[in-house]
Amino acid sequence: MDISDNFYLKRRSVMAKKIKNHPIKEDHLNIIINAGIRVPDHGALNPWKIKVIKGDKLKLIDEEVILPEFIKKNPEASLDSKFIESKRLQRASVVLAVLSTPVEHPKIPNWEMVLSSGAVCMNLLSCAQSLGYAAQWLTEWYAYNEKMLEYLGGRSGIDKISGFIYIGHKAEEPLERKRPDPSKVISYL
Ligand SMILES: Cc1cc2nc3c(=O)[nH]c(=O)nc-3n(C[C@H](O)[C@H](O)[C@H](O)COP(=O)(O)O)c2cc1C
Repeated sequence: MDISDNFYLKRRSVMAKKIKNHPIKEDHLNIIINAGIRVPDHGALNPWKIKVIKGDKLKLIDEEVILPEFIKKNPEASLDSKFIESKRLQRASVVLAVLSTPVEHPKIPNWEMVLSSGAVCMNLLSCAQSLGYAAQWLTEWYAYNEKMLEYLGGRSGIDKISGFIYIGHKAEEPLERKRPDPSKVISYL
């Protein structure tokens, strides 16, 4: 086996605007979700939640949460930008919203619980990509919107949206993006 061929050395996200949104297989979605919750989690506190958004719910949230919140904050917005906002989640076949839901704990810091929710996002993303799907981790503006947090069942002032994992199909293989110079970010002590 050629170890330089490793999946993680080639893994690449596909931009949401390039994702094709016809449905993905239900058994694949289950594998992705189960990979998502199989993450390092100090104290097994499960300080995160995954909200699966698919089918009619993509359109519903676009039209009942994202678009109205966008218009509320941008009353002068152009028709073009309103059109974009009205279709955000519908770019994907399924969107997995990951909430960081930390708990009070005498020993385990909040920071570690937040990191664990990032691990959930990364596992979801990597697993979807390993199955050949197009996927991207996005926050965009609506990850920081109170109404969206409330709609997803998050607690205001405590929970946060770690990201939306967009999953769908590839129209073409993505081009490589600029990667960090290893010598600038890695050093050996
Ligand atoms: C927490 C988080 C939030 C992100 N939010 C956005 C975003 O809102 N818009 C965007 O274009 N990219 C966003 N990105 C970056 C995309 O996921 C980007 O496509 C990714 O860096 C590509 O990397 P990859 O090919 O190594 O997977 C975000 C990344 C992270 C980790």
